[in-house]
Amino acid sequence: MSERADVLVTRPIMDGPLAQLRERCDVTVHENEFGIPRAELLEVVRGRDAIITMLTERVDAEFLSAAGSQLKLVANHAVGFDNIDVAACTAAGVLATNTPDVLTETTADTAFALLMAAARRLGEGERLLRDRKPWIWGPLMMLGQDVHHKTIGVVGFGRIGQAVARRAKGFGMKVLYADAFRLPPDVEAETGAERREFEELLAEADFVSIHTNLTEETRHLFDAEAFVKMKPTAVLVNTSRGPVVDEAALADALTAGEIFAAGLDVFEREPEVEPRLLALENAVVIPHLGSATVDTRNAMGALAVENVFAALEGIRPPTLLNPDAFRG
Ligand code: DGY
Repeated sequence: MSERADVLVTRPIMDGPLAQLRERCDVTVHENEFGIPRAELLEVVRGRDAIITMLTERVDAEFLSAAGSQLKLVANHAVGFDNIDVAACTAAGVLATNTPDVLTETTADTAFALLMAAARRLGEGERLLRDRKPWIWGPLMMLGQDVHHKTIGVVGFGRIGQAVARRAKGFGMKVLYADAFRLPPDVEAETGAERREFEELLAEADFVSIHTNLTEETRHLFDAEAFVKMKPTAVLVNTSRGPVVDEAALADALTAGEIFAAGLDVFEREPEVEPRLLALENAVVIPHLGSATVDTRNAMGALAVENVFAALEGIRPPTLLNPDAFRG
């Protein structure tokens, strides 16, 4: 990097990685609590050498042309990159990166926390106390579903899905997975996971945890038909991307008792949440907190910054999504 590059960060990130970035680049952090309106985004990206984006910003041909030909890299501060049109980046000669691995265990923790909370009705119990409603211990009070020694079905058995499976193993659970690819035998052995077709998994699992990418194939993978195939005692957990679940159909299924409960970190039209879900006691809902810990957000920021430095120096960024765009 000979002269100082001009880098935009579209939302404030952790101080440590930001300070690192500032040591070597001229950095503009766009201060905004609820995301940048599109028109403003298209203004502020102009003339940057690199941009650290969030999953809330759509990076497409319009964005890239608004940024201009100086742009070398879009570094997404997330593992999911459905907000990025990678082909458009490649066509524009812009590198695109994400932040895999560093958030795997933290996101798996969130999935397991939601699983436990939904199975054991923790949100409902907390609301009861906070609402200062009358209660007294009773043998039939607020009965949930056991987690230990039950069967979990992991849909999408990548890094995070496998990390969830390792946690499940510690609870003595049987682990099933559905994925386009069969895993190498050593990974199956480590997690004790058995592969199933998607429909078989739905029918067999007491807990279904979603860890697929959002693609045209997985959009609304969980629809009314899927919920009918699940057990009435089953719990659905989603920490992947909201549109994998048809939220209206999920609200119907939870209302009708087709499944027992759901734990959701992500939503179809964030930050909106299907209002019927918010009214349901058997839906545990949190605002996309999957990777939201101090350590992990530091690690995500650091990886995004590492990607920026590499791209600006003409080195292949460590977590490059479009190798075809790299002219090393
Ligand atoms: C991701 O990284 O894709 C998560 O959804 C946000 O942490």
